[in-house]
Amino acid sequence: MTVLTLQQADIHKGYQILVNREHPIQNNAYFTRKLLPIGIESSRIQLEKNTANLLNQLLNSISAKEKIVLVSGYRNQKEQEEIYQSSLLENGKRFTEKYVALPNCSEHQTGLAIDLGERAENIDFIRPHFSYSGIAGKFRREAAKFGFIERYGLDKEAVTGISHEPWHFRYVGYPHAQIMQEQQLCLEEYIAFIKDFTFGVKHYHYLKGNQKIEISFLKAESHPITIDIPDNCFYQVSGNNVDGFIITTWG
Ligand code: DAL
Ligand code: ZN
Repeated sequence: MTVLTLQQADIHKGYQILVNREHPIQNNAYFTRKLLPIGIESSRIQLEKNTANLLNQLLNSISAKEKIVLVSGYRNQKEQEEIYQSSLLENGKRFTEKYVALPNCSEHQTGLAIDLGERAENIDFIRPHFSYSGIAGKFRREAAKFGFIERYGLDKEAVTGISHEPWHFRYVGYPHAQIMQEQQLCLEEYIAFIKDFTFGVKHYHYLKGNQKIEISFLKAESHPITIDIPDNCFYQVSGNNVDGFIITTWG
């Protein structure tokens, strides 16, 4: 058995954290420690290490490196503030609230989000063009296998509080992205969905070939909690940035 100790403060870390207006970023320093530069056209783009590696693999697998532009990745709080303020001046309040997250409420501050554009002479920084056909369509068909989701769907605007953003992808990891896609759940809905599967009582089973994956939820307590993970089992624990942990085991 592997014994894990989970602390309340850890609910703000991990690949499945929900970041939105109601659930701002906590512990900014944690995210900046894990960044990696990515992209050939601009070395300014940084992403969380694993996110960068998987995005690279995904782009390579569809030979898209020359056709898809990485428009915006990790942003620090100051950058998000500047984008928000300049959009307010240029585009007004209504537009800005629809397309730019409030400082400290942006997934870009985690290094887990990337805005993509199809290569063109002029690329809009806030709303890059990333369609549903051609190379962008190909990217979408493969994205979930690599752990990425289109984060702000057209039919989810009322839930996410952000307008449809066909260009913004969020790394949540496999198989979470796959399940969200199959069940048509946005991240807010997925976090709520997984809460029904209490760790040690009931798991969500995801079967793919001979891979058996179990996902469950454990509510955080004010004191540290210890849990047992069976030996010979690959596992991942992520906070949900709300109230607990998502535990994934590969059997
Ligand atoms: N465009 C997304 C919502 C952000 O600013 O994080
Ligand atoms: Zn974005």
